[in-house]
Amino acid sequence: MSGERGAAGQAVPPRAVDREDRTEPLGAAPWPATPDADSLAPAARPTALTRPGEPERRVQAGTSRSQNQAANRAATLAPTGRRPHTSAAAPLRPSGRQRTPPPPVRFDLTPGRPDLSAFPRSRWLAAYRAALQAVPHHALTYPDPGGVAELRAELAAYLGRVRAAHAEAGQVVIMNGVALGLSSAVRSLVASGRTTLAVEDPTSDRQLPMLAATGARIVRVPVDDGGLDVAALARTGASAVLVTPAHQYPTGVVLACERRAALVDWARATGALIIEDDYDAEFRYDCEPVGCLQGIAPGRTVLLGSVSKALAPGMRLGWAVAPPWMAADLRGHRELSDLGGPVLDQHAFARLLADGAYDRHLRAMRRRYRGRRDALVEALAAHVPDAVVRGISAGVHLYLELPPGTSETAVVEVAAESGVRVCGARGMWNREQGRPALVLGYAALTECGLREAARILAAAITRARS
Ligand SMILES: Cc1ncc(COP(=O)(O)O)c(C=O)c1O
Repeated sequence: MSGERGAAGQAVPPRAVDREDRTEPLGAAPWPATPDADSLAPAARPTALTRPGEPERRVQAGTSRSQNQAANRAATLAPTGRRPHTSAAAPLRPSGRQRTPPPPVRFDLTPGRPDLSAFPRSRWLAAYRAALQAVPHHALTYPDPGGVAELRAELAAYLGRVRAAHAEAGQVVIMNGVALGLSSAVRSLVASGRTTLAVEDPTSDRQLPMLAATGARIVRVPVDDGGLDVAALARTGASAVLVTPAHQYPTGVVLACERRAALVDWARATGALIIEDDYDAEFRYDCEPVGCLQGIAPGRTVLLGSVSKALAPGMRLGWAVAPPWMAADLRGHRELSDLGGPVLDQHAFARLLADGAYDRHLRAMRRRYRGRRDALVEALAAHVPDAVVRGISAGVHLYLELPPGTSETAVVEVAAESGVRVCGARGMWNREQGRPALVLGYAALTECGLREAARILAAAITRARS
């Protein structure tokens, strides 16, 4: 895999942060003191024990594998809709080391959240007010279940400009986040008899139970330095694949150029569908982001995105850009399940896109997150030199490989005892994981807080190894 800034497999060298931030308070940015980031900086443009292909195996009772991994696998099979148990601050087993409740969380480094204190409240308020004033009474009736026309048009233009997507408003369907787009697309495939879905290994442990609940047969395909192993994918016989090409979750690698081409060739040759989860592609810090796959294979790709990283996951606002047959299915799914999303939110978001406020917010957040990532990477390199940060400089999380032989579970537990909440990677893997690892979300902590958290985490790693 590519190391931090391309140093494949090397321990991360210390390097200077772009922005000194020493006056920041420790820990999470306070609420609501942080002003809108709108005023801060030009939008980046695109330029299983299972072998590959095997279906996930049911975990036998009494397996010797870890609780997390077993729970994760079981979750991929049991359509319960429950979240799998991950190792983020997992309760301690009665190991004898600790029986008192862990102290309060001082630093929460679990992944998945942007800096919610930077939500552009005043911009959103202005956009919402403008929408309320402009929207005629009749537009407050049940909407087009695929989304209001204004937002679909704005998104088509935005995704074309920023993600090099091949989007027309008619192909855009508004969804409650990537999650609804993903589960609806897979349900549609399963209903049409295309039941085998290939999923990256490792992958998001939050999505696995969601996918299992669709009734799809899940096969896992390994990810390496260059992203998804497309040759292994081709051996699965899958009729669709879920990929995170711009920034693989959780390893952070980017799908290599030749594999992008091979993936598209595979989809065209087999008639399969690529489900492209573009969950954090707005945030690339080292160079221009790579354009989306949908832009080169619009007839074979469903592009999924949302505002969950750019604004807030609680907005539950996202989109799918799909080939016409799938766009019709997705729209139909919304019609049959919830009659569409909230109209005023959609109009407000359309205004945010139209007047450039969304771009301005993203520019500011890119600078902020880049500074935070750099601070964390630098502090980790200083305090845990034999750990390795994998993947590209992007997104709101990073993948930290722990020194070989370290117990991931012990690190999670000991860090929690010191007030630092982290998430182990084991639950995201199906095959043997290789080095133990943590998936660290850095967006919600200040640079000072991240430095302090890295120092405490390093001490926890040392304690866990002793
Ligand atoms: C891999 C991945 N995809 C998608 C999402 C976002 O999902 P949603 O848009 O439903 O909030 C996340 C959020 O953490 C994620 O980790």
